[in-house]
Amino acid sequence: MNTAKRRTVIAGNWKMNFTPAEATAFINAVKPLVAGKNNCDVVFCAPYVTIAAAQAAAAGSNIKIGAENVHFAEKGAYTGEVSAQMLTACGVEYVIIGHSERRQYFGETDETVNLRTKAALAAGMKVILCLGEVKEQRLSGVTDEVVAMQTKLDLKDVSAEELKNVIIAYEPVWAIGTGLTATPEQADETCGVIRATLAKLYGADVAEGVTIQYGGSMNEKNAAELLSKVNVDGGLIGGASLVPEKFAAIVDAAQ
Ligand code: 13P
Repeated sequence: MNTAKRRTVIAGNWKMNFTPAEATAFINAVKPLVAGKNNCDVVFCAPYVTIAAAQAAAAGSNIKIGAENVHFAEKGAYTGEVSAQMLTACGVEYVIIGHSERRQYFGETDETVNLRTKAALAAGMKVILCLGEVKEQRLSGVTDEVVAMQTKLDLKDVSAEELKNVIIAYEPVWAIGTGLTATPEQADETCGVIRATLAKLYGADVAEGVTIQYGGSMNEKNAAELLSKVNVDGGLIGGASLVPEKFAAIVDAAQ
């Protein structure tokens, strides 16, 4: 973390977990544990149908609620999709875009990730843009090229002004849900490659201000060491975001 230059953000990605009642119970349990922990922003991204319950439970606290995806069109014949206009009308400020599970199981590409990102930014949302290499790419030594390319393609035609509302989540796909974690050095190095790519696109000053999270089996045990790295500005947490004590311990590590 470099808290002098950029905001630390600890975000939970609930994925396809929690009914409204479960979300309410979870937020009520985690709220006192993260109260007053103001050295970072605390966000939970929820399934569309649990957003309202989570928002109601989080009201008046330091917890913000986001969505897990957004479509690029304002409205129209896109069965099953939700637009940025719909999300902002519901008071949703944050949205995850480009998660590897969306890319892997639902056919999302850098092109659709870019379209969704631009639509969300145009609607005034804050985007948590996910990217990262798969195992074969890491083993073949092309991680740096892969994340640089994703950074460029996913942010195509995003202005420096809009970039202020972008958080990048570096999530090595081989570390997601596997219990395998990038070493702090690997996380720092690859987040650094993403930052260097941003510097080429937007200039060093702008790049220094961008929050770059690490995601992939981050938990209450490894968070402090990962967050101690200068280029790791927070976490995007899956499994450990479903357990109040574990998530709160990660927030503690960011203080
Ligand atoms: P895990 O923390 O369960 O590995 O998930 C990470 C992730 O995909 C967050 O978006």
